[in-house]
Amino acid sequence: MANVEALRLILLYVHLIGFALLLGGSIAQYASGRLRINPAMLWGSVIQVLTGLGLSAPLRDGDEPAPAKLVTKLVIGLLIFVMVFFSRKRDVVNRGHFLAIVGLTLVNAAVAVFWR
Ligand code: HEM
Repeated sequence: MANVEALRLILLYVHLIGFALLLGGSIAQYASGRLRINPAMLWGSVIQVLTGLGLSAPLRDGDEPAPAKLVTKLVIGLLIFVMVFFSRKRDVVNRGHFLAIVGLTLVNAAVAVFWR
């Protein structure tokens, strides 16, 4: 069991790094005044979906998060990934599109923390 807990903590650690890349990359890009998708955002969105799926495995010895919470996070995480991936080569994206990526990232972090 100790090994499974170590795996869960490593996944959570990388999940938080992905969050930092996605949100930090978005805010830094927004502050630069040029609204485009940067590599930190792209890799952050990929890392979130992959580590999120790993964290959704039953690694907690019975004390698992609600399935509805995991499905909500997966839908929002995939939406963010799609919005980032298919705009990654554009020189400029719409302000609404960009702010939706930031907003959905904040919503998914809120779901993670407040949905108990
Ligand atoms: C932009 C996308 C995402 C953000 C910003 C995000 C944010 C976070 C944060 C901040 C935590 C730590 C919460 C805590 O330990 O109290 C967390 C944990 C977790 N996340 Fe994500 N996440 C994202 C995507 C996903 C996806 C796609 C999944 C897969 C379904 C997922 C599943 C999980 C799971 C299972 C945990 C473990 C803690 C728990 O839910 O109780 N996440 N996430």
